[in-house]
Order: sequence, then structure tokens, then C-alpha cells
Amino acid sequence: MEDSNKKEKINRRGFLKIAAAATAAFSIQPTLDKVKAANNVITGKKNSIVRKDGMLYRTLGSGSAAFEVSAMGFGVMGMNYNRSQSPGRKQCIRVIHEAAERGVTLFDTAIVYGPLHNEILAGEALAPYKGKVNITTKFGHEVINGKTTGRQDSSPATIRRYCEDSLRRLKIDSIPLFYQHRFDPKTPVEVVAETIGDLIKEGKVQHWGMCEVNAETIRKAHSIQPLTAIQSEWHLMHRLIEENDVLKVCQQLGIGFVPYSPVNRGFLGGAINEFTVFDDKNDNRQTLPRFQPDTIRANTAILNVLQHFGRTRGMTSAQVALAWLMSKGEGIVPIPGTTKVSHLIENLYTLDFDISDNDWKELESAVASFPVMGDRYNAEQQRQVGH
Ligand SMILES: NC(=O)c1ccc[n+]([C@@H]2O[C@H](COP(=O)([O-])OP(=O)(O)OC[C@H]3O[C@@H](n4cnc5c(N)ncnc54)[C@H](OP(=O)(O)O)[C@@H]3O)[C@@H](O)[C@H]2O)c1
Repeated sequence: MEDSNKKEKINRRGFLKIAAAATAAFSIQPTLDKVKAANNVITGKKNSIVRKDGMLYRTLGSGSAAFEVSAMGFGVMGMNYNRSQSPGRKQCIRVIHEAAERGVTLFDTAIVYGPLHNEILAGEALAPYKGKVNITTKFGHEVINGKTTGRQDSSPATIRRYCEDSLRRLKIDSIPLFYQHRFDPKTPVEVVAETIGDLIKEGKVQHWGMCEVNAETIRKAHSIQPLTAIQSEWHLMHRLIEENDVLKVCQQLGIGFVPYSPVNRGFLGGAINEFTVFDDKNDNRQTLPRFQPDTIRANTAILNVLQHFGRTRGMTSAQVALAWLMSKGEGIVPIPGTTKVSHLIENLYTLDFDISDNDWKELESAVASFPVMGDRYNAEQQRQVGH
């Protein structure tokens, strides 16, 4: 009796998954052409978006640096680092598996998250999907005996050591995309690019990228070892890369872009308000000027704009935030993070919406009428970016 109940449950779960996949496949197909059309209008280029097994794919980078991934990635960081309480290993693995089963092939972590614990979680959760998904990770912040020192270290010997350690924790033979997390003033970018070039030749790394660097650094790095992606903060409340030439250089050189914190660390998802209490041991948002009660209260006007925009289109504010980023052109792959299957599905269903260029302009001007209150980073974090 217990056995037949169990079977019944499994069959039902299997059916629900197949039904969901079939619905997604039917709804994504027409969306594909519409998304293609919308993006072509914006970039004026042939879009690299393609469809496989009901999931949309995009290509980060070009030529020898090209890397095809699901059009929406998954940020693993917040499952056990910097986003308050973790729901625990079992639930995190369940969510990561759900993402992989639904076709996500780009999972993002870093050595410094945890430190180390986030890579360990990603490696353990994704081991059954080896060869089918990609785990991207990052070096740069110095970590000694499992603790951060606050310094940067991208010297060749350290990059090599961190690469070996990450391979072991991630349970893979080659890192699909290895990012420099923050610029190291002591190590010229040319040296970093050459070191990564050697690791690529040795097969330990397949592609590389950089985070939060300026346009000149990107040009220098790319001329030595072609970059696949730049990963920096980008969302409707932080549009610096559109103003400081970073996006322009990426488009000129054919480098992909991975917007991090695409729903502004949860704020644009609508579940944060001035009374939200962040875990004082495991949440960096409490240190950010933009996440203080008064700035949260003021910035809620911006969230309301997204909610209002989504209301007549059947979209949540998180979907509006993600769809806006994706509409900015090909080679853009956001990596929202979540601890919940429901938010994962909501975020993936962003791929199902088609918004016109004019509508996006309307949204942008509505958002612009409310100045963003509070800096995104505190002084120390700000010192580490833009080199
Ligand atoms: N390169 C870098 O310097 C850098 C810096 C920061 C982050 N990152 C990467 O970017 C990834 C994502 O960044 P992030 O976690 O800072 O920001 P995010 O993805 O913008 O926001 C994550 C937060 O949003 C909430 N959320 C997600 N989907 C939601 C939805 N549909 N509705 C309401 N709330 C939702 C999540 O809470 P729930 O768990 O409740 O869903 C989570 O706390 C990280 O995992 C990391 O890989 C990179």
C-alpha cells in the first residue's frame, strides 16, 4: 500500500514536470521569434538566441571565446552566503536540481562565497549533471585557511592554486568560465590574461571573464586573451555600464555580459521593505547604503513603477526587471539567485514575455522620474571596483 502510494506520487510528480515542460515548450516557441525580433530591433544584429529542449540559449563571447549557455543563468551565492538564513543543504540542492532539470546550464559561484562553502554546495549539487551544465567561479579575493583577508591576490601562482582548489571543490576537470572577481592593483592585467591563457592551453579552464572593471582594462585584457564575459552589477536601479562605455566595448569586441544582482539583491522582487531585518552574520545588504530603512522606503517608488508596468502585462516586478535586461541585446545572460523553487520558476518564465521597444522606453522614463536613493556599495566595496 505504502509502495503504491509512493509510485502514485512519483508518477504524479513526473506528469506535472512533463506537463510543465510541454507547456513551457509550447509557450516558448512563439516567444522565441518575438524575443528575436525585439532584440534585433535594439541591437540591429542577428540574434544568437536559439532553442533546445524547451530552453532558450544565448552565446556569451565570440570566436574562440564563444560559450553557449541557457538564456537565464542561476546565481548560487545567496543560497548559503550574504542573503540571510540558508534553508539548508537539502533544500538548496533541491532548488539547484530543479533549475538543471528545467534547462538552466549556467550556475554561478565564487571562491569567496562562504568562503568556499558555496563552491562546495554547487559542486555537490551539480555532480549528477557533470558534462550537462556549467559551473562558473571566480578568483581574486584572497582566502587563507577558509577566511577572507580583505586583500586581492591575482598573482600567477595564486590563480593556479585557486584553480586547482576550485576544480576539486566543484568536482569538475575544467572550469567552464573563470572570472577575476576584483582587479588586483599589484598584478598587471596583462599578467592575469597570460596566466589564464596558459590555463586554457592546459585544459584547466575553458573561458575567462572579469568583474567590475573599466573599458580600458577590458580592451587590454581582451587583446591578450579573448574574454567571454564581463560580469558586473546591472539592473534598472544601477545602469553605470550603459554610461561608462563598458557595455559599448563589450558590444564592439563581441564580449558577453552577465548582469549580477539582476533583481537588485531581491529589492526589485518586492519582498523587501523598511522593516526587513537582515541576518547580522550573513547578509551584506545591511552594510549597503541602498538597503537602509530610509533609502528602502524612498526607493519603493521605483519598485512600484515595475509592479504597475507588470500589472497590465501579467508580469511580476522580478520578471519585469529580468526581461528588461534581456531586451538590451544578445549575449546578455542574467544570473538571478533564489532559495525557492517558486521564484526559480517565476524567473525562468520571464523568457515567455515579449515587450516592445516603446514599452521599455516608457518604463525607463517612469523609473527615471524617481532618483535612486543611497549608493550601491559602501566606501570599502566601492574602492575595489572600476579599475
Ligand atoms: N561578480 C560579483 O561581484 C557578484 C556580486 C554579487 C552577486 N554576484 C552573483 O550574482 C548572483 C545573483 O546576485 P544576488 O543574489 O546579489 O542578487 P539577485 O539575484 O538580484 O537577488 C537575489 C535575491 O532576490 C530574491 N529573489 C529572487 N527571485 C525573486 C523573485 N522572483 N521574487 C522575489 N524575490 C526574488 C532572492 O530571495 P529568495 O531566496 O527569497 O528568492 C534573493 O535574496 C549571485 O548568486 C552571484 O552568483 C556576483
